[in-house]
Amino acid sequence: MAKRTNPKVDFPSDDKRWKILNATMKRNGYEGHALIETLHTAQDSFGYLDGDVLAFVAKYLNVSKSKVYGVATFYHYFNLKPPGKHTCVICTGTACYIKGADQLIHDIEDKYKINLGGTTLDGELSVMETRCIGACSLAPAVVLDGEIIGNVEENDLLKTLSGWMV
Ligand code: FES
Repeated sequence: MAKRTNPKVDFPSDDKRWKILNATMKRNGYEGHALIETLHTAQDSFGYLDGDVLAFVAKYLNVSKSKVYGVATFYHYFNLKPPGKHTCVICTGTACYIKGADQLIHDIEDKYKINLGGTTLDGELSVMETRCIGACSLAPAVVLDGEIIGNVEENDLLKTLSGWMV
């Protein structure tokens, strides 16, 4: 079978996580067999798979949206939406880990009595981890409600999260 030529990719935004997602597809020649691996990358980067992510993957792997949706809903590992009203996704890639991501996780788990992947009882906050989101020079980095924040200080992070809680 002829190898697919690399498509010209229109990224939905400047968010580096789209590039990470694209890198997985590119490494697999934009072939449909990369679907599950690509969804794993998306889940690890974004914390969950929303409609924009599923549409992006479907488009560039040339797979129907219904198939992408079907795979995403079949596997329990994938979340189609963030469980909490707000999401805090902590990067635990090497650079962020060295710069204290584990302390950030510890502080949040301690303060809100939840574990990574969990949601507070009131449904206000979900805390997840991700692999490198391509912002290593800003380590430690977190993604707060979809926005990448770099050089995160423990106190500032806890303050922001407190502001979210009703
Ligand atoms: S390791 Fe966290 S952004 Fe790269």
